[in-house]
Amino acid sequence: MPVAIVLGGQWGDEGKGKITDALAASADVVIRPNGSTNAGHTVVTDDGVFKLHVIPSGVLYPHCTCVIGAGVAVSPPDLLREIATLRERHSRLGQLYLSDRAHVIMPYHPLLDAYEEQRRGAAGIGTTLRGNGPAFTDKVARRGIRVADLLPGAEAFLRQKLEILLPEKNTLFVHLYGREPIDLEELLREARYWGEQLAPYVIAAEVFVQDAIAAGKRVIVEAAQGTMLDLDYGTYPYVTSSPPTAAGACQGAGIAPTQVDRVVGVFKAYTTRVGAGPFPTELHDDIGQLLRERGREYGTTTGRPRRVGWFDAVAARYTARLNGMTEAALTKLDMLDPLPEIRICTGYRLGNQLLSAPPARIDLYETIEPVYETLPGWRSDTSHAASFSELPLEARRYVERIEELIGVPITMIGIGPARRQIVWRHAEALA
Ligand code: GDP
Ligand code: IMO
Ligand code: MG
Repeated sequence: MPVAIVLGGQWGDEGKGKITDALAASADVVIRPNGSTNAGHTVVTDDGVFKLHVIPSGVLYPHCTCVIGAGVAVSPPDLLREIATLRERHSRLGQLYLSDRAHVIMPYHPLLDAYEEQRRGAAGIGTTLRGNGPAFTDKVARRGIRVADLLPGAEAFLRQKLEILLPEKNTLFVHLYGREPIDLEELLREARYWGEQLAPYVIAAEVFVQDAIAAGKRVIVEAAQGTMLDLDYGTYPYVTSSPPTAAGACQGAGIAPTQVDRVVGVFKAYTTRVGAGPFPTELHDDIGQLLRERGREYGTTTGRPRRVGWFDAVAARYTARLNGMTEAALTKLDMLDPLPEIRICTGYRLGNQLLSAPPARIDLYETIEPVYETLPGWRSDTSHAASFSELPLEARRYVERIEELIGVPITMIGIGPARRQIVWRHAEALA
């Protein structure tokens, strides 16, 4: 391995949790570099279905040390609840650590998220309402609260920061949104409680991870979201607020680009998107409905129905290159089993131009027409295949065509939600 990044190549929910869990069977450390409780990563083991939000997907192995990195924004009550729920259901969890540099989602962040979405009305982003955007906004504005600020001993420092910060938030609450102000003393009491509860987990995560790499440990960086939700390269402003890319994963985990050996891009065999924003291959017909129901395409975090569409090779090739993917995982191939034919988008037509990459101007998406290639379906059950050669010919052709279009070898193919439902290819490439 030694350092592998697992990241989303589409608009999130590609199956990163499942792929990370599969790779973590032979990893020592799994680190989350970005995002917050907005993420929902599903891992299915013999003990049931686990939906993880900020805790890395290696946690279900006692041999894995899991680290929440500096690039994550953590909601203390959500994290404490996530830990408690996992402990109730699973007796042999991996060790968990939290970066002292991670930012804190404070109680005013989800409120700001909700009020701002309401204020925008139809022009809303469709956020997960977890306070992610407002927390990362405060981070960039250099007024964020960090995990270290909550710890016992930092009370006076935290009070000083909040005395400056809170009047600004309360001005917004009262005068822009017409709501109640937040009480400083109550907030400080809550913060002290969180600090005491979280203290046993808190470390200098970047130092821990660097020591692990120096000691030859096998490290996975499990990014949240997908590259098409990136602030710079995604469909801005319909994006998230921390970088879901390989570069962002390095930054958030405290790992240098030169230390990374593998970048595993995870793609669903079709496309889904939750929330608002451009989606060129979106399906509004019976096939879309079939994939949504069959694929149980409802948000892991919010339960919202996911929008569904054909595989978009324009976006996928774009994200494969931006992230320097060394390999790809294609999940949920089994969801396509009943379809008589399957489409892949190979270009975006804009007037008489053919675009080979997603454009910066999102108003153009209204006139973009996807150019499709149609492949025959296989109309048989793929969920029990033990090897690539056991997949129907048409399914192999579909995988190979995607591989060709995105320019990256597909080394893992998901044929069901369970741990064992992965077809491994090019096994020699997997350390
Ligand atoms: P993540 O956010 O990228 O980790 O993905 P999510 O967990 O939000 O959504 C992926 C969903 O697909 C989860 O319900 C997984 O259990 C499920 N899943 C992952 N891979 C496969 C697969 O190959 N086949 C099927 N049928 N389900 C899968
Ligand atoms: P995982 O890690 C899918 C989307 C939201 C919204 C936009 C901004 O499970 O793949 P935010 O709450 O981040 O401000 O919302 O980003 N979004 C995701 N969509 N999977 C995710 O995470 C997502 N995290 C955020 O739906 O459109
Ligand atoms: Mg998800």
